[in-house]
Amino acid sequence: MKGVTVLSEYRLPYLQESDTISLGRKIGALLFPGAFIALYGDLGSGKTTFTRALAAGLGIQDNICSPSYNIVAEYGEGRLPLYHFDAYRLEDVSELMEIGFVDYCYGGGVVVMEWANKVSKALPRDRLDIHIIGSGTQFRTMLFVPHGSSYTDILKETVI
Ligand SMILES: Nc1ncnc2c1ncn2[C@@H]1O[C@H](COP(=O)(O)OP(=O)(O)O)[C@@H](O)[C@H]1O
Ligand SMILES: [Mg+2]
Repeated sequence: MKGVTVLSEYRLPYLQESDTISLGRKIGALLFPGAFIALYGDLGSGKTTFTRALAAGLGIQDNICSPSYNIVAEYGEGRLPLYHFDAYRLEDVSELMEIGFVDYCYGGGVVVMEWANKVSKALPRDRLDIHIIGSGTQFRTMLFVPHGSSYTDILKETVI
């Protein structure tokens, strides 16, 4: 089956906020230079909450907030640099390119992209897709789709 990529997905239901945070910390601790995490989910689903925990897992102490207005926020003091993107306000993928998106992807750090569905054409082939379903007081379901064996390995140590 040459050229066919079979993707697996791993679904975790009934997550409380503490579960989201614990997953973010564990995954953050295992990330490697050049890692790319694409986050999907409605407003208030928990993308920034997850990113904050992931940052803590990287050893970043800063308060992470949503970079909506600046598109990207950089955090340099952890085990690896974190480049936290939020595509919510982007009209077009070209705006991402203008701020040097490709350089961030090859910057030896970790890229997290909130609202990844808005820039699907620009996403690297190797990445970890994480969909968060639910908002408000609902339990969340997280759906993990690894694109590349490095991400499958991380999931094996965390969610599988
Ligand atoms: N299981 C959960 N996972 C993540 N956040 C949760 C959960 N349950 C409740 N919350 C709350 O939902 C909100 C998520 O907000 P935020 O992380 O900013 O979402 P987003 O970045 O997706 O818009 C926070 O106020 C958080 O406290
Ligand atoms: Mg957010």
